[in-house]
Amino acid sequence: MTIEERIRALKEEKNALVLAHNYQRPGIQDLADFVGDSLELARMAEGTKKPVIVFCGVLFMAETAKILNPERKVLIPVRDAKCPLADQLTPAMLARARAEHPGAAVVLYINSTAECKALADIVCTSANAVDVVRSLDATEVIVAPDANLAAYVQSRVPEKRVIAIPPAGHCYVHQCFSTQDVVSARDRGDTVICHPECRPEIQEMADLVASTGGMVRALRGQQPGRRWTILTEREMAYRLRTLYPDQEVHVRDDAVCRDMKKITTRDLLLSLEREQYEVILPQETMEKARRAIRRMLEAGQ
Ligand code: 13P
Ligand code: SF4
Repeated sequence: MTIEERIRALKEEKNALVLAHNYQRPGIQDLADFVGDSLELARMAEGTKKPVIVFCGVLFMAETAKILNPERKVLIPVRDAKCPLADQLTPAMLARARAEHPGAAVVLYINSTAECKALADIVCTSANAVDVVRSLDATEVIVAPDANLAAYVQSRVPEKRVIAIPPAGHCYVHQCFSTQDVVSARDRGDTVICHPECRPEIQEMADLVASTGGMVRALRGQQPGRRWTILTEREMAYRLRTLYPDQEVHVRDDAVCRDMKKITTRDLLLSLEREQYEVILPQETMEKARRAIRRMLEAGQ
């Protein structure tokens, strides 16, 4: 049996759901039951009846699946696949921000640790951040930990004051894009889509700012042969080319999230075989974080 056949057989045997983020290696995307953005994956994790979820992504995503499904076994095939952006925020920083801005609502990007989510009023993803902030009564809103996402929200919700915590929090993958990338893309005749984790000046120049799921939706039903430059992690191109082989998708080959690449098909096989590595979180942290995540999911965006 090939490694892929063994994985497929084990998924059946264990009645496991394999979820993969759009930035996962092509081999993992091909083996997953569902591939999507952070919001879509959280909803899939919440909706499943399967007893085992294997999460191919980074730790905050697997933690979110566990928080929404405390009674199920949630596995991440590589223990140290983490998001460096999530690690830029600590509970102490959030507590300080709350003390400095007592009337402000705390909106936490899903790219954050479970401990920080436990201190949030509501969670958001790149797909729904604008709607989540608009839905709040507060006129001051703390958005953490991505300052570029905070700037994006501020540009779309000018009636509120958005406070970025930390003031320069960012994702190193999306920070690598420059305005020259947009200029070069336009010279090629491409339509440009950027992720809201890109710098504000890139957001302003792009034709569309979208989550990875929003990129999938943007290319759906387009005329064959259209050309796109996607300013996000490299593997998004594999996802889009798989879904839409008649579209021409360009990405930067050096835009690589190292942690998203840690999980290989061998790791997925071992994870299913040995049921490793189980995501375990303190009950109290899960209960508090669940409130903030559910509030986002119930907001319906
Ligand atoms: P999406 O929710 O748009 O998939 O983004 C997740 C992420 O980590 C972007 O870097
Ligand atoms: Fe985190 Fe950036 Fe990787 Fe997304 S691409 S998981 S934000 S480091």
